[in-house]
Amino acid sequence: MNLEDHINIIYENTYLNENINFLDLWKKVFQKIYPNKKPNFNDPGWMKRINKSFFLSKYFLSNIEMKGDVLECGVFKGFSSLLLIELEKLLNNHVINNYFLVDSFEGLSEILEEDKPKNKDVFRNQQGNLKANFEDVEKCFFEYQNVNILKGWIPNIFNVLDENNKYKFIHIDVDLYQPTLDTLNFFYDKVVEGGIIITDDYETPLFPGNKKAWQKFLFSRKISYFALPSGQAVIIKK
Ligand SMILES: C[S@@+](CC[C@H](N)C(=O)[O-])C[C@H]1O[C@@H](n2cnc3c(N)ncnc32)[C@H](O)[C@@H]1O
Repeated sequence: MNLEDHINIIYENTYLNENINFLDLWKKVFQKIYPNKKPNFNDPGWMKRINKSFFLSKYFLSNIEMKGDVLECGVFKGFSSLLLIELEKLLNNHVINNYFLVDSFEGLSEILEEDKPKNKDVFRNQQGNLKANFEDVEKCFFEYQNVNILKGWIPNIFNVLDENNKYKFIHIDVDLYQPTLDTLNFFYDKVVEGGIIITDDYETPLFPGNKKAWQKFLFSRKISYFALPSGQAVIIKK
């Protein structure tokens, strides 16, 4: 049995709610973001990506009827943003004010000591890796009226946002220590009660800085969180 068979056993008949088939949605979004690519379900990395998308979608749905904005820091080509936006489109009752998608579109910022994997065999990312073409991303989201794409470096780019915005869902996927910490510092107090913050790289050998920043912020504020089996971590704000 190969890995793709396992993905099918777990997800083939998995519905996000009564009528949204998770794997169908995932494949549709993947095709839109990567029109010339086929997902290789036999690569273990893909199983991880699918698991993370599943948890992200479930948490996104869990407070969908609350009022508030949705923010993603770390957009790259737009896969996870589009997954949430397309998921929302399939629902009847929802109140999303605005989506804000934040990225340098110049790739990773400076790699600090905190970001360097201890194990020398683990691949080391460089500043500027994961650069996406801004115009292509803009095209992908052109049809959605309440989607705002913000190009710039974290944290400076946050200053263009209205300081009165309130957020009900924040996805942090910037990989690195400093922008993760900056995002939490800037937005935590702007999250509504019952709002959700989810980070992508809590347990990832490639990006140890994410967990360090997450724990530094949360421990200093005595905030509890839940580490998911996918390697993500999540806060539901009290
Ligand atoms: C792993 S990718 C995001 C993946 C994306 N969520 C997806 O679904 O494909 C990380 C992104 O963080 C962005 N990034 C890293 N450091 C940043 C910083 N300091 N300011 C703005 N963007 C940053 C990179 O440009 C990159 O696009």
